[in-house]
Amino acid sequence: MNHRVPRTRKEIFETLIKGLQRLEYRGYDSAGVAIDGNNHEVKERHIQLVKKRGKVKALDEELYKQDSMDLKVEFETHFGIAHTRWATHGVPSAVNSHPQRSDKGNEFVVIHNGIITNYKDLRKFLESKGYEFESETDTETIAKLIKYVFDNRETEDITFSTLVERVIQQLEGAFALVFKSVHYPGEAVATRRGSPLLIGVRSKYKLSTEQIPILYRTCTLENVENICKTRMKRLDSSACLHAVGDKAVEFFFASDASAIIEHTNRVIFLEDDDIAAVADGKLSIHRVKRSASDDPSRAIQTLQMELQQIMKGNFSAFMQKEIFEQPESVFNTMRGRVNFETNTVLLGGLKDHLKEIRRCRRLIVIGCGTSYHAAVATRQVLEELTELPVMVELASDFLDRNTPVFRDDVCFFISQSGETADTLLALRYCKDRGALTVGVTNTVGSSISRETDCGVHINAGPEIGVASTKAYTSQFISLVMFGLMMSEDRISLQNRRQEIIRGLRSLPELIKEVLSLEEKIHDLALELYTQRSLLVMGRGYNYATCLEGALKIKEITYMHSEGILAGELKHGPLALIDKQMPVIMVIMKDPCFAKCQNALQQVTARQGRPIILCSKDDTESSKFAYKTIELPHTVDCLQGILSVIPLQLLSFHLAVLRGYDVDFPRNLAKSVTVE
Ligand code: G6P
Repeated sequence: MNHRVPRTRKEIFETLIKGLQRLEYRGYDSAGVAIDGNNHEVKERHIQLVKKRGKVKALDEELYKQDSMDLKVEFETHFGIAHTRWATHGVPSAVNSHPQRSDKGNEFVVIHNGIITNYKDLRKFLESKGYEFESETDTETIAKLIKYVFDNRETEDITFSTLVERVIQQLEGAFALVFKSVHYPGEAVATRRGSPLLIGVRSKYKLSTEQIPILYRTCTLENVENICKTRMKRLDSSACLHAVGDKAVEFFFASDASAIIEHTNRVIFLEDDDIAAVADGKLSIHRVKRSASDDPSRAIQTLQMELQQIMKGNFSAFMQKEIFEQPESVFNTMRGRVNFETNTVLLGGLKDHLKEIRRCRRLIVIGCGTSYHAAVATRQVLEELTELPVMVELASDFLDRNTPVFRDDVCFFISQSGETADTLLALRYCKDRGALTVGVTNTVGSSISRETDCGVHINAGPEIGVASTKAYTSQFISLVMFGLMMSEDRISLQNRRQEIIRGLRSLPELIKEVLSLEEKIHDLALELYTQRSLLVMGRGYNYATCLEGALKIKEITYMHSEGILAGELKHGPLALIDKQMPVIMVIMKDPCFAKCQNALQQVTARQGRPIILCSKDDTESSKFAYKTIELPHTVDCLQGILSVIPLQLLSFHLAVLRGYDVDFPRNLAKSVTVE
């Protein structure tokens, strides 16, 4: 947003598009912009929207195709918004992309990062008031809701920020929002809860302050009935940020600093429920309730980082960043689905098919690579909770065998990308045979999510590193949630269900605890990185961890690595064991513990030197270990989520020490769309 800084429309486009390109790593299935229209007389009272399916580049090309856009027209004050989307509700399409609008006249437009969990109720309410929806998005309810609040305002002079404040009180879920309106030309309002949002400030002139005092409402949220009657503390210049002497200033709102760093390194990080408003070149920050930090002001900070660093945060690779995102990504997978108070689970995408699924004869779970391992990891708990036979299948092998499939089978297709050719072909094969098909993907609008009868979106956020990490743990949780939903009315399983749901609740904290072991794992990598081979052994609930750990090691370190079922040790792999061969054993306090102790004895009897991933309270295994990594304990069927993380970290550090590009390993692709 520029104020007293004349900018041509072309410059405005370039700023917006460049910013989007910097954010493309977060997702990129469609993009859109809203800027002021062409009618010079009323140019700030007309909003033009341009939206396009595909990458930002497609939007960029589209902008220059629009005949009505005079690129040379200059604006002294202008506020444009732009968004690149990664679908969570509704397929990628122009109409589902952002900005979303309140009506055909574009009176209010909004861009949104996050998920509104109560959007269906809001939509129903707004539809009952005569508002017509055009998209399938949760975001459109926000655009309509602000118009509803505006249409029903009690005074003419209501401010833009007051409208937004009322809107966000109705929203549940996570959001970063930026609004633009024909009713408030040259003004911008932005707010956040749960999703990141910052404001960049650029001016050649001295700024009025470095600390922006927060303006509180005179009533609090508890007193919500009064909210319409209350007013913000008087807005005077001392509570605002602007350039001294009403000079030129520009503000940039963005999800992260990578989008704006080329314009300014001076930023203000907003906190949850802050409402930031720019009007007449002045930025003010408002709140209804006290902030979590209790800081009554927001400071301008100067960023020292390089662009590349900002995109990856403090991490050296996307894979590392994604490993560390797991406390949030697993939470996002459960958000709005697991009710920890009532011990219930609702997967919206499956609920209409639940009766049919419950009547089926068997479940077949199909995937490739890491996604297949998520199926292996959850097979036992699915068998237990659904009381159905569960087959887990590698898509390519499943097809090679012409596996018999029947109308009363339910087939799950697990795929991060939703585009893997083998999995997609297996899906079509099952469909042709009349089975009910269920997608479990991380990409709304992908081929698998479109072609299946129903599905679950794992909501892990975009995964960029080729070696899958956070998608695995979210796939794992999605399948467990499915089992929980299936067993809701089985009386005999209630205690077990409660135990698992309690376990799910504490997972984000326990994952943080595992992540704090990074230094120890780095030290282990220092010892191992010159080895040629690495065996990973375990059984029961943790067998999948061995397969997945070995796959991670192969994929990015190019070492030979094998995941071995400890029960099979004596049938072959024992021949590999000697003093030199590094062996990692996963031994958890679960029903397989005693059997794992046998395997441990067999390894140490051959002078093997096992590195053991064990439970914190396990004094037995450590006696025989060359080294131990001690993990927090959780419910047996969820333990695999915690036990896989040290191996994700180990593979990462091994690859770095061996000098390889972690995010782009040789010969591999993130999405394999050929058979
Ligand atoms: C590729 C990737 C793997 C991934 C597999 C399945 O091989 O390199 O990391 O696990 O495909 O991908 P999907 O998108 O179907 O989960």
